[in-house]
Amino acid sequence: QAIMDRNLGLEFVRVTEAAALSTAQWVGKGDRHAADQAACDAMRNALNELELHVRVVIGEGERDEAPMLFIGEELGAGIGVSPRVDIAVDPLEGTNLCANGLENAISVIAAAVEGDGALMHAPDCYMDKLVVGEPAKGAIDITLPPAANLRAIAKCLGKKIEEVTVGILDRPRHEKMISEIRRAGARIRLVTDGDITLAIATIDESTGIDALMGIGGAPEGVITAAAVRAYGGDMQARLVFRNDDERRRAEKMVKGDINRVFHAEDLAGGNVTFAATGITTGDLLKGVRYTRDGAITESIVMRSRSGTIRRILTRHRFEDVPNY
Ligand code: FBP
Repeated sequence: QAIMDRNLGLEFVRVTEAAALSTAQWVGKGDRHAADQAACDAMRNALNELELHVRVVIGEGERDEAPMLFIGEELGAGIGVSPRVDIAVDPLEGTNLCANGLENAISVIAAAVEGDGALMHAPDCYMDKLVVGEPAKGAIDITLPPAANLRAIAKCLGKKIEEVTVGILDRPRHEKMISEIRRAGARIRLVTDGDITLAIATIDESTGIDALMGIGGAPEGVITAAAVRAYGGDMQARLVFRNDDERRRAEKMVKGDINRVFHAEDLAGGNVTFAATGITTGDLLKGVRYTRDGAITESIVMRSRSGTIRRILTRHRFEDVPNY
């Protein structure tokens, strides 16, 4: 089918650009809610303009808690005409980062055409993640302690453990893991938020981050897996439940054993597409920069089937920008 040969990322990047441009107005203003709202509104409007039939599988939440981009919402100008494209969206990844003007806030979409690829319908629980770049593919095992993985990663990279850098969310739940990583001798990049961005930085060799470890959101994990599949790299993950209710929800939503180790292919299988645009400047992407007559955005677009990775620098002239 023609749609499967289309690089949807090139269409979706206009959507993440629209969300980033709209959200950028809220950088540093201390208003998480307004920033998130701007991102969602812009993303939703831009999605509705695409000649596609998209269905949100990972979004802002359940229908009753999220007025837009809720799980199951169908959008696009191609409803009923085009084959269905499942999307996982995070219009503003790093709400606090944006509100506080800190680095690494992005807008992101992962997509898979029905019958060609698949995105796991992850419940809104936590997920333990281990992500590495291409050179360490096949060498990781999330069931082993951090030190064992660090040894394997260092070997694959031809580095000493002391030269390996691990990205991890700065959370009390990671205290033990952080001290184990330090005891093993590795360096740590602690971030306050944004483990999708950290994961993409991990799979890109130029950033100097060699592994992502630790627990973040499960929905973010599916988007991360799409990036890993498209870019090359490796990921293993396990769902983490805070209570029985989360466990029950996962049993309903996830096929098979919910306690198993999930690989990137289980979370984002087949042909998947990924697009992200920087909102604030970070490890991988520059944020939105205003110019005299508009703004400049930087994005990354990737597709697993072809393995292409594009970085797109876009000049937007505000008089030309559609009214998102
Ligand atoms: P938001 O953009 O929704 O605020 O998410 C930011 C984030 O840091 C994610 O990148 C990460 O997966 C998750 O929150 C971690 O959750 P928690 O803040 O509960 O530890």
